[in-house]
Parts: sequence; C-alpha cells; structure tokens
Amino acid sequence: MSDRFDLTGRVALVTGASSGLGRHFAKVLSSAGAKVVLAARRVDRLEALAAEIEAAGGEALAVAMDVTKADTIQAGLEATIAKFGGPADIIVNNSGLSREDWFTSMDEDDFDLVMDTNTKGVWLVARTFAGALTKAGKPGSMINIASVAGKRVGYTMSAYCASKAACEHMTRAMAVEMARYNVRVNAIAPGYFETEINDTFLNSDEGEKMRKRVPMRRFGEHEELSGPLLLLASDAGSFMTGATLVVDGGHMWSSL
Ligand SMILES: NC(=O)c1ccc[n+]([C@@H]2O[C@H](COP(=O)([O-])OP(=O)(O)OC[C@H]3O[C@@H](n4cnc5c(N)ncnc54)[C@H](OP(=O)(O)O)[C@@H]3O)[C@@H](O)[C@H]2O)c1
Repeated sequence: MSDRFDLTGRVALVTGASSGLGRHFAKVLSSAGAKVVLAARRVDRLEALAAEIEAAGGEALAVAMDVTKADTIQAGLEATIAKFGGPADIIVNNSGLSREDWFTSMDEDDFDLVMDTNTKGVWLVARTFAGALTKAGKPGSMINIASVAGKRVGYTMSAYCASKAACEHMTRAMAVEMARYNVRVNAIAPGYFETEINDTFLNSDEGEKMRKRVPMRRFGEHEELSGPLLLLASDAGSFMTGATLVVDGGHMWSSL
C-alpha cells in the first residue's frame, strides 16, 4: 500500500515555495521522490531551499514566478521542461496573500490584489501547467490550497473569504473538465497554521481567543498537512477528484 504514495519519477510545481506552507510542501514532495519546481517572487529564498533539498539528495529548480503575470508562468513552464524533460505532473497552487479591512473602507486595489493572487493566479497557473499536461497526454494531479475562510466568514476578511471560496469552487469546475484527461484536481482547506501570513495575528490576544475556539484547542503543525498533500498528489488518491480536504482541528464546526 505504501508504494501508492511514492512519487519517484514525478515532477511537482509548488507556487509560493518561498515561505510557510509552500516551503513545507516542496520538502514533503521531494522526500516522497518527486523532483520539485519552486516558484515565487523571492528567488533568493527559493534558491536557498533548492540547495537544501539537493543537499538532502533531492532535485530542485528555482523559478521566478508572479502568479498574477501570465508571462512569468509561461517562462516557469519552459524552465521546467528544459530542466526535467517535460511539464510538472503535480501542480500545487499554493501562492496566496491576504489584505484585511472592513469592506466599507477597503481599498479597491487591495481587493483586486487578493482576487488576482488567490483566484485568478490559480486559474492562470492551472491554465498553463494543466494545459501543458493535457497537450502532452500525461496524467497528473493538481492541488489548490483553499482555506476554511472560503467556507466560513470572518470580520475584515471579505476579499480573502471570497477569493478562497472561488478557488475551491473553481477546483470542482476544473476537476470536471480535466477528468477525461486523467488529471485530478482537488483542494486542501487548511485551518490556522502559523506562517508569515498570520503570525502577528495568531500571537496576539485576538489570536489566543481564536485558538480557544478551535475544538482541538490549538493551531496546526505544518507536518499535519503532509498526509493530505501526499494522498492527493499520489496514486493513493487515484479516484479522488473535485474534493476538498479540510485540515483544521475541527475549527469549521466549532460549537455555536
Ligand atoms: N497559514 C494558514 O493558516 C493558512 C490557512 C489557510 C490557507 N492558507 C493558504 O496557504 C497558502 C500559503 O500561505 P502561507 O500561510 O504559507 O503564507 P506565507 O508564508 O505568507 O506564504 C505565501 C506565499 O505566497 C507567495 N506569493 C504571494 N503572492 C504571490 C505572487 N503574486 N506570485 C507568486 N507567489 C506569491 C509568497 O511568495 P513571494 O512573496 O516570494 O512571491 C509566499 O511564498 C496561501 O494560499 C494561504 O492563503 C494558509
């Protein structure tokens, strides 16, 4: 059974690999045998991670990519093919950011930035990378990182919540279109995991109050996303498409 989780011979793109969950995902996929393509805007961080992965015996490529800019995504695809001989057959759409404000005072540019990164960015990367897979006639797996914020709502989070709800629903639409090509498309909806996106909030008094509302009374450890990621990336999840795995310590269903 454990062989079904093996990713030897696979090539995995991870967007947003320069920090937080993306950095962790890249290391997990490499440990499972995949060659990894590390994409984000802060290339110095990607190169340091690539060196770390190669020192541990893996293979990695760092590519500068802004998921809001189609030309950088196309360049990332071409670099992947040049280095690894074909397109990535695991695509982890992880890049994301948040801007928070009450919607009545939120700046329009901030709203656009959140939607462009978290929703349109997923679509642009998927169009290019999944498009290359179908063109090459290769099976694959795409994993979009959504959020429990796409299922529930929070004060000052209207743009982020909308962007993640759209990301999750787009996952289903993409799954239906990709099924005939044997490309599976699923999502992971994490609860709260400490990273640069939320460390100030999670370590504040408000963050502490929220931690107490999580049924498991804690935030997640990055390692607790490894199993769900590998399930969706590998043949262990070969009949799963259009699904969302919620990984949140029960936060979604905290008691009324
Ligand atoms: N941490 C949580 O509790 C949590 C919960 C639910 C969902 N998520 C989601 O998980 C994903 C990863 O977030 P994180 O928590 O790991 O936060 P993070 O540490 O802030 O990482 C965000 C990553 O996204 C990249 N990124 C942002 N804008 C980009 C752009 N235009 N082009 C390319 N890359 C871009 C950043 O890289 P560069 O700045 O170098 O480009 C960075 O690597 C996000 O989609 C987030 O919404 C996180």
